[in-house]
Amino acid sequence: MNKAYIFILGGTSTITLSIFLFVLAPRVQIIDVNEKGISAQEPYSEIELKGRQTYMENGCIYCHSQQVRDPSVGADKYFGWGRPSKPSDYIHDEPHLLGTMRTGPDLSNIGSRQPSKDWHHLHFYNPRILVKWSIMPRFSFLYEEISSNESPAENAIRVPGEESQWIIPSQEAEALVAYMLSLRRDRDPEAVQKESKQ
Ligand code: HEC
Repeated sequence: MNKAYIFILGGTSTITLSIFLFVLAPRVQIIDVNEKGISAQEPYSEIELKGRQTYMENGCIYCHSQQVRDPSVGADKYFGWGRPSKPSDYIHDEPHLLGTMRTGPDLSNIGSRQPSKDWHHLHFYNPRILVKWSIMPRFSFLYEEISSNESPAENAIRVPGEESQWIIPSQEAEALVAYMLSLRRDRDPEAVQKESKQ
């Protein structure tokens, strides 16, 4: 047992290092974010928050992440999902929706990548209208389907490839699309702050 000191030294340094890496270092990063209070993600509006709720309720997180990895640890930079995520990107997120599964693409910058409302509505109504091979489920229950020769409502969208078929988005669908368009975490937080001050 004369080598007990190696065991004690090894154990103590492992614990000390772990505390430093997994408790203190993240804590310091969080303090930094809060003091600066700047984020590429502006505070969510009421409708965007409602859409965020719809996102949680419909299990979108089981197939979509909202975290872009640094080029040193993955190939994310080749997918067009924007710059690597920063802690400040999540300053308004409660709870955060980082996600761990990527059956579908990351959505960190979907608002910049796909800014068309109609695209999102048609895609939620039936992804295969726009992406033939898509395995994303339909969320058609968020839409009212109407057959008509003319547009039945101001916000009605014609279904391509179907004669006189229209969909009218529910409030939930409108909110979900507003949330999608608000996700623009490909911007530089400092530039966003300057913009909003002007
Ligand atoms: C079973 C897995 C699955 C679920 C659940 C799912 N998606 Fe998807 N999603 C996909 C796949 C796969 C794609 C890529 C094909 C496509 O564009 O349809 C995709 C694509 C997308 C896109 C387009 C991304 C791009 O880069 O063009 C958006 C936006 C999206 N999903 C949002 C959602 C939202 C919001 C929900 C919840 C209401 C949801 N998804 C639920 C699998 C899923």
